[in-house]
Amino acid sequence: MPSSVAPSESPLHPMFLQVKEMEEQLGALRTSLVCALNQVLDLRDLNTGVHSTRLAEWALHVAGDLGLPETTLADIETAALLHDIGKIGIPDAILNKPARLSDEEYDWMKKHPEYGWAVLRQIPGLDRASLLVLHHHESFDGKGYPGGLQGEEIPIGSRIVSVIDAFDAMVSSRPYRRGLPIEEAERRLLAASGTQFDPIVIAKFLPLARAEMTAVFAAAGTTVSAVL
Ligand SMILES: [Fe+2]
Repeated sequence: MPSSVAPSESPLHPMFLQVKEMEEQLGALRTSLVCALNQVLDLRDLNTGVHSTRLAEWALHVAGDLGLPETTLADIETAALLHDIGKIGIPDAILNKPARLSDEEYDWMKKHPEYGWAVLRQIPGLDRASLLVLHHHESFDGKGYPGGLQGEEIPIGSRIVSVIDAFDAMVSSRPYRRGLPIEEAERRLLAASGTQFDPIVIAKFLPLARAEMTAVFAAAGTTVSAVL
């Protein structure tokens, strides 16, 4: 009976081993590039190591809980780490403005998902992640940007990043304000479930956020502002 596996697909065939090796090298190169770009964000103070690592962990956890395929997990991890890389193209005067942005400044700020997409799509292997970055400010009800996509039109990875990024921003302390208590951040996420955020993602993320944050505070033995 003829085998259904072509000779070159056999795990012991030299060509199979060569392809496997090349895939591993490409994967390692991609990981190095993502780390390098994450450091660029650090240098511009657009991302801190703790925050970006935490976002990536949460995103992977939610994606796993949603039963998303293994192949999309790396894209979601990359998007969680690099979603705001396009802010590199926004002037400091806007990025660091302590007051409310003018309409014109806000319009400029809203360009950052497209800037990020334009950068990441150039890198082989990051094309899918670049699309997740492009859509990370879409709103579940279609009122977001840049595409005004609605519901499941928005890639699931973008819907996940949107929720965890909003939660992280709410509970994190900034030089000019203290982070919100977790309960208040949860309340705001729930209030926007089905309008700004995907209810399915919210349902998966909230128990995780509660458990994670409790663990973080317990480990630090201290307050929200000291660890965030
Ligand atoms: Fe963003």
